[in-house]
Amino acid sequence: MSQDDSSVKPWGGRFSEATDAFVERFTASVTFDQRLYHHDINGSIAHATMLASVGVLTEDEKNTIISGLEAIRADIDSGNFTWSIALEDVHMNIEAELTKRIGITGKKLHTGRSRNDQVATDIRLYLRDEIDAIALELTRLQGGLVVLAEREAETIMPGFTHLQTAQPVTFGHHLLAWYEMLDRDYGRLVDCRARLNQSPLGAAALAGTTYPINREQTAELMGFAAPTRNSLDSVSDRDFAIEFNAFAALVMTHLSRASEELVLWTSAQFNFIDLPDRFCTGSSIMPQKKNPDVPELVRGKTGRVTGNLISLLTLMKSQPLAYNKDNQEDKEPLFDTVDTIKDCLRAFADMIPALTANKAVMYEAAKRGFSTATDLADYLVRKGIPFRDSHEVVGKSVAYGIQQQKDLSEMSLEELRQFSDVIAEDVFDVLTLEGSVAARDHIGGTAPAQVRKAVARAKDALALR
Ligand code: ARG
Repeated sequence: MSQDDSSVKPWGGRFSEATDAFVERFTASVTFDQRLYHHDINGSIAHATMLASVGVLTEDEKNTIISGLEAIRADIDSGNFTWSIALEDVHMNIEAELTKRIGITGKKLHTGRSRNDQVATDIRLYLRDEIDAIALELTRLQGGLVVLAEREAETIMPGFTHLQTAQPVTFGHHLLAWYEMLDRDYGRLVDCRARLNQSPLGAAALAGTTYPINREQTAELMGFAAPTRNSLDSVSDRDFAIEFNAFAALVMTHLSRASEELVLWTSAQFNFIDLPDRFCTGSSIMPQKKNPDVPELVRGKTGRVTGNLISLLTLMKSQPLAYNKDNQEDKEPLFDTVDTIKDCLRAFADMIPALTANKAVMYEAAKRGFSTATDLADYLVRKGIPFRDSHEVVGKSVAYGIQQQKDLSEMSLEELRQFSDVIAEDVFDVLTLEGSVAARDHIGGTAPAQVRKAVARAKDALALR
């Protein structure tokens, strides 16, 4: 990064002294917004193409500008470009370089445009590409969950409420709960992309421009569905960044919940699952340790993404129309969110299909904690006992079981009949874990048959993306 002479500033005309060195650094964004160069060049090419087709530039000028921009893009791609703090941001760095390379024609590119609509365009183009990449990664993760859920459709584990054993569930069903969370996230991402996909280019500084521009053309050239409808709103709107970050905060919240469960389940105390070594690390002092760092880090990174959402909301709060320099502060939180969510989705998409279930341990855990108590209560109801009374009967059986250290399924018929004489031999069909899960055989239920149907529906939905 070089500290060029400030006389090169494209806006220097009305200034009589150089920018204070600290202010120059303080107001510059090029250290982080250089990430937008590719989209900035695409926006400039669309703008130049349009200017030529409405007669503001000649065909020759347009072609010179475009080949100059492409040469700059190639140099930036290969690391042969020196960014200058004095030139403030990615936009002025590229424009100044263009003029340096092609001369006076370069100075015509900014006709009918402002950095205000330029940056609004760049971020939308950038974020749209990132959204498409994130959608693929999210789909890969959902696909992994579906594969694992199919494999574990019959695997029985304890289901929890209050982290206390509640009722037996199938592991496949649990995995598909995660799938559902992510499926809503996917829908939010698609919504966000649709609202983002409008072109602010042509709003210029805030009021539009006096040149005979064709905003439909630039919108189409950049793949936007339409131009935005109000120039003031166009240069000041960052809703799309906030919406995207809200999507991301919710995905991270969901991943943090799954992470928490993975961390619990890999502990010696649960021992429900194993994560392959390649997703774990060891301890420098305790030789026995294998730590679930990947889910722990994903859980931890949720904080920064939520923080970025708050940053963006607070950044926009009370901003008067139209563009304000405050908006330069949108980039770092947005970029950080994009990077974080891509890494976390990738980590999960790689890790999920690789985890193995310790089925026997899960099964034994499901047997503890009287997980089939509700099944016994439902059984008594089917024998004609009102639910509240059957609840009481089962409560007494559980108290007896605690005292005798026996699960309901381990009691003899005689022992069970102490609490109600409607209990017969067929009670053991419902007291087994297999019977318990198989009986919840309706849409959304935990029965293996339902898990398989849900897997089939999910596969169909993913195939349509
Ligand atoms: N670097 C600026 C940003 O990120 C570009 C727009 C600057 N516009 C201006 N009028 N100073 O928002």
